[in-house]
Amino acid sequence: MYLLGIDVGTSGVKALLIDARGAVVASASESYPLYTPQPLWAEQDPNDWWNATCAVIHQLLAQSGVRAEQVRGIGLSGQMHGSVFLDERGESIRPALLWCDQRTAAECAWITERVGMQTILQTTLNPVLTGFQAGKIIWLRRHEPDNYARVRQVLLPKDFIRYRLTGEAATEVSDASGTALFDVPKRDWAYEILDALELPNNWFPKVYESPEITGRVVAQAAQATGLAEGTPVVGGAGDQAAGAVGVGVVQAGRASVSVGTSGVVFAHLDAPQVDPQYRTHTFCHAVPGAWHVMGVMLMAGGALQWYRETFAPETDYDALVQQAESVPAGAEGLLFAPYLSGERTPYPDPHARGAFVGLTIAHRRAHCTRAVLEGVAFGLRDSLEILKAIGVPLSELRLTGGGAKSPLWRQILASVFAQPVQTLHAEEGPAYGVALLAGVGVGVWHSVPEACAATVQIAARTEPEPAQVIAYEAVYARYRQLYPTLRQLWQ
Ligand code: XUL
Repeated sequence: MYLLGIDVGTSGVKALLIDARGAVVASASESYPLYTPQPLWAEQDPNDWWNATCAVIHQLLAQSGVRAEQVRGIGLSGQMHGSVFLDERGESIRPALLWCDQRTAAECAWITERVGMQTILQTTLNPVLTGFQAGKIIWLRRHEPDNYARVRQVLLPKDFIRYRLTGEAATEVSDASGTALFDVPKRDWAYEILDALELPNNWFPKVYESPEITGRVVAQAAQATGLAEGTPVVGGAGDQAAGAVGVGVVQAGRASVSVGTSGVVFAHLDAPQVDPQYRTHTFCHAVPGAWHVMGVMLMAGGALQWYRETFAPETDYDALVQQAESVPAGAEGLLFAPYLSGERTPYPDPHARGAFVGLTIAHRRAHCTRAVLEGVAFGLRDSLEILKAIGVPLSELRLTGGGAKSPLWRQILASVFAQPVQTLHAEEGPAYGVALLAGVGVGVWHSVPEACAATVQIAARTEPEPAQVIAYEAVYARYRQLYPTLRQLWQ
């Protein structure tokens, strides 16, 4: 018995097969292009996603020797928020507009005006952000009326793959939460918002809970992928919720801190809770009847990557980071503002910029490296502070992403958070989380927490260092002043 997880990401699709104990028996990935027809636009061809998905499934089955009939269930994850437009034959009308596409500022302002800020916040629990799906649909109506006239269905990226696999137009609560058209407390479409925007209700797919079976592989898809006809496909989840399931963040008190290109703090909630200033996102979780809140920092590992490529291209990451160990906590007065691509949490500001502040002739490269690691840790702490302020319990922090592999960065994070951080035995990302959801859907496990308890293992715990904790309290207080002080230079 095997379970298949598929993650339709921004750079490519990743798929893996796990067995009944949760061990990964094979994984494969395939990339596809991202198109930028104008600055700040970001598009992909949904047919590229489908072709890459067919290729990785073939590879997985060939590589592992697993027979198609042994795959009991399939889970889908993917980049959130994007908009796939289908015509009456179920064909994609134009390239999909992605989560990182920034063309819709005017449309978002119009939606907010039209629906009313109060209704938006009470219903979707978030402001209408340019990345979210709603603005992309209105953009099509305003700028490509001929294409808009052909629309019969609007899907999120991973749900296009579901549509090809099963013939069903369906979604699930975690991804639907990121459309700005979803009633997050009620876990259903926000019909009053659809009506106010004059968007036909039947364009939006049926909504399921994440582990529920949404359809079965049809004959044509079986032929294209090598899967068995009739294999069940569960709802799955948006990449963040799926990643959280994959690391066991499925009960109150647990949160993950991910240091990938971006940095994400993600906490499980038993009931919806919002930051009154809406600096974090509150969405439905992939655990039925649960929600989550997350803060997103746009550049975390990405800041270190930029720094190394720019200032130390000849040094590998391990050596570079190791040099920073000799520098005391606080980098002898040097601060780094990590806003290299603007920011989302805690400052939803596309104009924010990066900075080194406090340089002297005594500072060496090792100080700069340490300041980068610390600046990212402070940025993540900003998200944790918002969650604490609204009363989210955070007794267990699970560290994930490339940054979790560095012992020094782990130590800095634990001391900046003044709290132990856990790392996991193995970490496979969103595809793993949705393979677990598939297992729940087909009855391998009774619930999402049970699936995680059976498969996710803590490998290590990094304790905060008391002297560093004290030092970082003072440095964090100075870091907090960076953005408000520098902001006027960036407007
Ligand atoms: C979540 C988000 C990203 C995208 C792309 O809000 O914007 O995680 O899903 O990975």
